[in-house]
Amino acid sequence: MIKLTVNVSRKYDVLMGHGILGNTGGYIENAEGRKICIITDTNVDELYGKQEHALWRSLESAGSSVYKYVFPGGEDHKDMATITSILEYLAKNDFTRSDLIIALGGGITGDVAGFAAASYLRGIEFIQIPTTFLAAVDSSVGGKTGVNLSSGKNLAGAFHQPSLVLFDPDILSTLSADLKLDGIAEAIKAGFIGDLDILSLAYHCADPQDEDFLTKLAALAIEVKRIIVEDDERESGKRALLNLGHTAAHAIEKCSGYNIRHGHAVAMGMAIVSSASAKKGWCDNSVHEAMMAVLNKFEFPLECPYSAEELTSAALHDKKRKGNDITLVIPEAIGNCVLKKIPVEDLTEFFEAGLESLK
Ligand code: GLY
Repeated sequence: MIKLTVNVSRKYDVLMGHGILGNTGGYIENAEGRKICIITDTNVDELYGKQEHALWRSLESAGSSVYKYVFPGGEDHKDMATITSILEYLAKNDFTRSDLIIALGGGITGDVAGFAAASYLRGIEFIQIPTTFLAAVDSSVGGKTGVNLSSGKNLAGAFHQPSLVLFDPDILSTLSADLKLDGIAEAIKAGFIGDLDILSLAYHCADPQDEDFLTKLAALAIEVKRIIVEDDERESGKRALLNLGHTAAHAIEKCSGYNIRHGHAVAMGMAIVSSASAKKGWCDNSVHEAMMAVLNKFEFPLECPYSAEELTSAALHDKKRKGNDITLVIPEAIGNCVLKKIPVEDLTEFFEAGLESLK
């Protein structure tokens, strides 16, 4: 069992180990007599959400009353309508402030369930149980929760830390190679931000499907995130480093109508930003070479199907942009990134410089 402790506005553990899912009730403090609402999507419900599954049984054995709210999942349902419906469900079933929500699923479920937990009665406890590798590596830790508005992604939300994160590597056997790659991209990102061991582990990996390799990668990536989030929980500065490759990635996802997966877009985004940074002299070419070597090791498709103009237009419609500048994360050295503001009118040229070497 791997245990990490995140010490922010709330102190909580991240536990990783085989069999954790079926023993969830045993890890919840004061489970006896509490109501627990599992929030999950239809796909994950089939796998782990049923009453006969060990997860549900372990909660009942611990003395909790178990409820479940299932939604269709997907970006289309990551909205205020789903939040309202969850809040009404909790209220109808007389949930109180001492009751608990479990977010059982990928990043969308974590964001939705976390925001419902942040809003219900002005905030109740919630536990993250990621069932995708991407969520295990990144979104289940750090307390970002929220939903999309018609004007853009993640525009409504709250910082609300979970009280516990449980990752059971047994879930990896249900994931496609592509779903694992999504999380591997985020782990490589963490490596470039602050841990050369991640890059060495990734580069020397013999089997990207291996559960022990993936678990170790997730633990190291979360450790990088833990250090940053403990320093800057509400992203007033340093936490933005976790967005390495994400300006381009969000633009790529948007241009593709969300057909290019987040982790794959992050891989492309990191290739673009390291290439452009090397061309502009903001980092040594060896940083870009190291980035390409580790991404190519996992055979990420890196050729971006969109032009610099298309990416800029998508990036600048992001309502979270401040004023006339855009902040990029630059991989200054392998294992060290910095934030750099550039005028928005320079973004197309930056993307162009990055795209050139990927053709
Ligand atoms: N995924 C970036 C963050 O949590 O800040």
